[in-house]
Amino acid sequence: MGKKILVTGGAGFIGSHLVDHLINVKNHEVTVLDILDEQVHQNQEHPPDYLNEKANFIQDSTNNYNCFKELILEHDIIYHLAAVVGVGQSMYEIKKYSENNIISTANLLDILVNNEHDVKKLVIASSNTIYGEGKAYCNKCGVISPKLRELAQLNKKDWEIICPKCKQITTPLLTDESHPFNSSSIYALSKQSQEQMGLLIGKTYGINTTILRFFLVYGPRQALSNPYTGVCSIFSNRLFNGKAPIVFEDGLQTRDFVHVNDVCQALILSMENQASKYEIFNVGSGIPITIKEVAQTISEKIKPELKPVFNQQYRIGDIRHCVADISKIKKLLGYQPSIKFSDGIDDLIKWTILQAKPVIDQTQNAFTQLKIKKLIR
Ligand SMILES: NC(=O)c1ccc[n+]([C@@H]2O[C@H](COP(=O)([O-])OP(=O)(O)OC[C@H]3O[C@@H](n4cnc5c(N)ncnc54)[C@H](O)[C@@H]3O)[C@@H](O)[C@H]2O)c1
Ligand SMILES: [Zn+2]
Repeated sequence: MGKKILVTGGAGFIGSHLVDHLINVKNHEVTVLDILDEQVHQNQEHPPDYLNEKANFIQDSTNNYNCFKELILEHDIIYHLAAVVGVGQSMYEIKKYSENNIISTANLLDILVNNEHDVKKLVIASSNTIYGEGKAYCNKCGVISPKLRELAQLNKKDWEIICPKCKQITTPLLTDESHPFNSSSIYALSKQSQEQMGLLIGKTYGINTTILRFFLVYGPRQALSNPYTGVCSIFSNRLFNGKAPIVFEDGLQTRDFVHVNDVCQALILSMENQASKYEIFNVGSGIPITIKEVAQTISEKIKPELKPVFNQQYRIGDIRHCVADISKIKKLLGYQPSIKFSDGIDDLIKWTILQAKPVIDQTQNAFTQLKIKKLIR
């Protein structure tokens, strides 16, 4: 018989794909708890059309303790994905990010600790942002864990990571799970708190908990309406609105883009494989891609005449390079990302085309907000 699984944030981008997989492939019984946050879901009256119709949908918040408690006590497995997800926005909506990300996790753990339950597994979604800058290598000094770049350096439009000891330019390395925390936003700090609270309480009370640090996830259903997160959907939606993608710095910063289906693979493996107990895993592709390459690939596929603009501006707290070392999850859980960026991006583009109504591009408003707060310079 299928398991009873609760997915918080299950109407969102990653959650809804997970729900499909749990129901269609694995035959589990799934409940979704999702507030339908306005920034993500333009229509808050109904769950999104893409949500699996076999899922039991509850529209409420993980901050509603009693509702959350009732649901947790009815389920065997919990995937905790509900969160507000804009890095820049978290720097001025501090209360909102703390409540939805930290307090909601506090509720979850408080309920598990203070009630009899049948929960056998808890998986918490974390993020690569908790690392800040990824690991780097200096030819003279060896491996380093860089701090954020100084404003004086960024003001000179010197974008690369410099070795703190000998001041040489460093080479980026893949970042593994032992890399130290260096959260540079309230969002990242909230994810760091979720991780640490989850593992601390999990280990203390014997609740089998796993933390997954997603890198930059892309694919169909990524909110086109949220201008604060998801660079691929932001670029695609701008192009469909007849506007060129805007790239910060010089575009040569690198990231790790992972297709949502590969993320689902990691989520399912974490539930099914006992080797995931109390572990933290990076979930990425392990392949660096520059933002320039991302912008150019998407432009060429949608509107080749609209060339990306490299604005040579920077965002406070932004990092230069961070790409996942995925050897741990490959070795312990048998994870194998299977979708190349150049192929996977077509899924997002096709989905954007299929939207009944074009989604108005909000990036200019978001940039204005961030500029007013002096978070873009
Ligand atoms: N997309 C990425 O690249 C990425 C990267 C790293 C980590 N993550 C993490 O993965 C998880 C899912 O992200 P996503 O990209 O699917 O985002 P999303 O915004 O598409 O989905 C999040 C869902 O959570 C819901 N939600 C927010 N606050 C809630 C609350 N208090 N109670 C109930 N529901 C609430 C929203 O309505 C939304 O449907 C998040 O925890 C996020 O931090 C995502
Ligand atoms: Zn050095």
